[in-house]
Amino acid sequence: MSSDVLHTYRTESPDETIALAQAVGAVLGAGDLVVLTGDLGAGKTQFAKGVALGLGVQDRVTSPTFALHQQYEGRELLHHLDVYRLDDLAETLDLDLPELVESGVTVIEWGDTIEDVLPPDRLVVRIVADPDVDDSRMLYFETEAVDNWMPRLKEVLQ
Ligand SMILES: Nc1ncnc2c1ncn2[C@@H]1O[C@H](COP(=O)(O)OP(=O)(O)OP(=O)(O)O)[C@@H](O)[C@H]1O
Ligand SMILES: [Mg+2]
Repeated sequence: MSSDVLHTYRTESPDETIALAQAVGAVLGAGDLVVLTGDLGAGKTQFAKGVALGLGVQDRVTSPTFALHQQYEGRELLHHLDVYRLDDLAETLDLDLPELVESGVTVIEWGDTIEDVLPPDRLVVRIVADPDVDDSRMLYFETEAVDNWMPRLKEVLQ
C-alpha cells in the first residue's frame, strides 16, 4: 500500500495514548475504518480503548483476541476486531466486513495482515515502541485517502 504519513506523534504513557485516541474517536463517524498495526504489546488495544471513549462507549473495552469481534454501543456502534489469530482469509470474509464497516466505526487490530480485503479508505495507525524508553511509543497516522482523513485529523493532532 502506498500511503502518506499524515502525522507522527509520540506518547510517553498508556494514558497519553488513550487521550490521543479519544480525540481521534471524537471525530469518527459511521463508515470509518481504523487499522491498528504494531508488534505484540505495542498499544493497539490501549488505542482502541481511547477510540471507544471518544465515541462515548460506557462499557470497558477489552482485548478481543479470543472473541475476534466485539461490538459496543456509543454515539455510533463500535466494532473492535483483532485478527491476529485469523487462520485464513475465508474466515475474514465470513465477517462480512463491508456490511460491518457501514454500520458503525470499525477498529481492527493487526488489520495490516488482511489489508487485501479492506477498503482503501481507511486510517492506519502504526504504533512503534521505543526500545530505549519503556513507556514511549511513536504513532504514525497513515492513509491512502488523504482527502477524507486530513481535515478531521488536523482538528485533533497538532
Ligand atoms: N505510551 C504507551 N502507549 C500505549 N501503551 C503503553 C505505553 N507505554 C506503555 N504501554 C503499555 O504497553 C501495553 C500495551 O498493551 P496493548 O494490549 O494495548 O498492546 P497491543 O498492541 O494491543 O498488543 P496485542 O498485539 O497483544 O493485542 C500495556 O501494558 C500498556 O500499559
Ligand atoms: Mg491488543
